[in-house]
Amino acid sequence: MNKMKDTYILGIESSCDETSVSIVKNGNEEIATVVLSQMDTHASYGGVVPEIASRMHVENITIVIEECLKKANMKMEGIDAIAVTYGPGLIGCLLIGVGAATTLSYIYNKPLVPVHHIAGHIYANNLVSKMSFPLIALVVSGGHTDLIYMENDYLFKKIGGTLDDAVGECYDKVARVINVPYPGGPLVDKLSYEGEDTYTLPLPLDDNSYNFSFSGIKSAVINLVHNEEQRGNKIRKSDIACSFQNRVVEILTKKTMRALKEYNVKNLIIAGGVSANSGIRNRFTELCKENDINLTIPNIKYCTDNAAMIAAAGYFAYKKGIRAGYDLKATATTSLF
Ligand code: KG4
Ligand code: ZN
Repeated sequence: MNKMKDTYILGIESSCDETSVSIVKNGNEEIATVVLSQMDTHASYGGVVPEIASRMHVENITIVIEECLKKANMKMEGIDAIAVTYGPGLIGCLLIGVGAATTLSYIYNKPLVPVHHIAGHIYANNLVSKMSFPLIALVVSGGHTDLIYMENDYLFKKIGGTLDDAVGECYDKVARVINVPYPGGPLVDKLSYEGEDTYTLPLPLDDNSYNFSFSGIKSAVINLVHNEEQRGNKIRKSDIACSFQNRVVEILTKKTMRALKEYNVKNLIIAGGVSANSGIRNRFTELCKENDINLTIPNIKYCTDNAAMIAAAGYFAYKKGIRAGYDLKATATTSLF
């Protein structure tokens, strides 16, 4: 029997504040990845400044492409296709990645594969171990909170999602209210282990749907902090972080475990920046063990934005024949479903 030819995808990600390029073989083997984070620059502004972010992508993209090829010890000629995040994200940032990808595609005559950012987050799991289907994916990031059913590769069916704020956005806002510096999510996570669950906060949207709502718990934290301040009480940041994180983990696990049961699915993957959260990782690990569910979560460095996940997803899009022309448009808001 002939050995199947290996497929090398070069992925490009620039949707927010990371300029990243990666080469992945056959959708599951990382050859080389370079991630240039702008986090330190944006930290002094308390959040990502879109104009600065896109300018930094312009300055860095060619350097990161070169660096990745060097690290992989490969030349563009050895690449089979170029995958790029076309959306959703900051439009000025996306345009830089899409511009670089279309240029490479034109110069080297390589197929161009458009990848939805969330498909990328999901496929970060394929770099851990080959994804088994059917599966439920819980996507938790700065812009998304979705429960997705996948019958097979690259088939995404939404079964629920947030009705308002994304969970990462909520983490970042809570961080701001309790005066925790940017990036808020990881620091609130860390702080939660130094405190106790002493504050009464609501379990958000505890109903029979698979939807989520995080604006209520965000407002509850804001009100709590204001009330304590008005009474002249000192707030216990770590206790707020702990109480908040416990409620978030409780509602995410409750709805996800119910979805697995109702859809009779034995495979769960978690994806997106907030899947780096230790409360989420620990509780899901316990529950999946108890319920005999095969759980995959990306390695911490591939939870947040990176191009390895785009190249991994790009492989499956490429195999499905998904292609873009040189007129590929970057799109700030675009649905996966
Ligand atoms: O996926 P990502 O890098 O960007 C988007 O596509 O949105 O996710 C970034 C989000 C931010 O809101 C950040 O605060 C959150 O992920 N995040 C965390 C943790 N690490 C990152 N939230 C809670 N706990 C963490 N450990
Ligand atoms: Zn992301």
